[in-house]
Amino acid sequence: MQSESGLLRWLNVPLVYNAFSAVVGANALRRRLIQNHVRAKPGDKVIDIGCGSALALQWLPGVQYLGLDINSDCIAFARRTHGARGTFVVGDVRSLRADSRFRDADIVMALGVLHHLDDREAGDCIQFAHDALKPNGRFVCHEACWIPNQGSVSKYIMGSDRGRNIRTEQQYRDLAGKVFSKIEARVDTKPMRIPYVTIVLECEK
Ligand SMILES: C[S@@+](CC[C@H](N)C(=O)[O-])C[C@H]1O[C@@H](n2cnc3c(N)ncnc32)[C@H](O)[C@@H]1O
Repeated sequence: MQSESGLLRWLNVPLVYNAFSAVVGANALRRRLIQNHVRAKPGDKVIDIGCGSALALQWLPGVQYLGLDINSDCIAFARRTHGARGTFVVGDVRSLRADSRFRDADIVMALGVLHHLDDREAGDCIQFAHDALKPNGRFVCHEACWIPNQGSVSKYIMGSDRGRNIRTEQQYRDLAGKVFSKIEARVDTKPMRIPYVTIVLECEK
């Protein structure tokens, strides 16, 4: 579920979202995340769930990129920006479950997506990732994360996020653990220029 109130609505507009990402340091964070955790190799098949305008593509090597998002404006923006560097599909994990393009991936990623989804939708997303992976493929997801003794400023900023389902490390682990048995998680308490806490989970099939 996503909050669409007030100024936050503007973050649905790709240009506004991309500018906001640059200002708060989210682009530098994405670059580090892609280098250190996604670790794609040239030629890998990479599926990006909730790809938005496919910002991630600028830090990936020459991969076979397949992005999906429910926001058709984001997908149109991604097609205009990246052209033939990837395939960009409008839809969600339920409508695309039987689509044979979403198979045999080396890596599936979902960056900033699960906190927009309730537990049932997030479970479907993780199952979709598992089904789309080759044996030994990896699902990498990156999310906002609550921690004990959270600072009041980060609590306020994260509480204002459009995604209404930010979780604790244990809650993310429990969700992923229903589908994947090998999970590594890392919490970062200073990921950007603003007070915020994130978690990255690497799940192996
Ligand atoms: C915070 S943005 C992240 C976009 C992109 N992954 C990035 O790192 O820039 C979350 C994205 O998830 C998409 N989204 C939300 N719910 C979705 C769903 N059920 N299926 C597919 N995409 C979804 C939104 O449209 C939005 O583009």
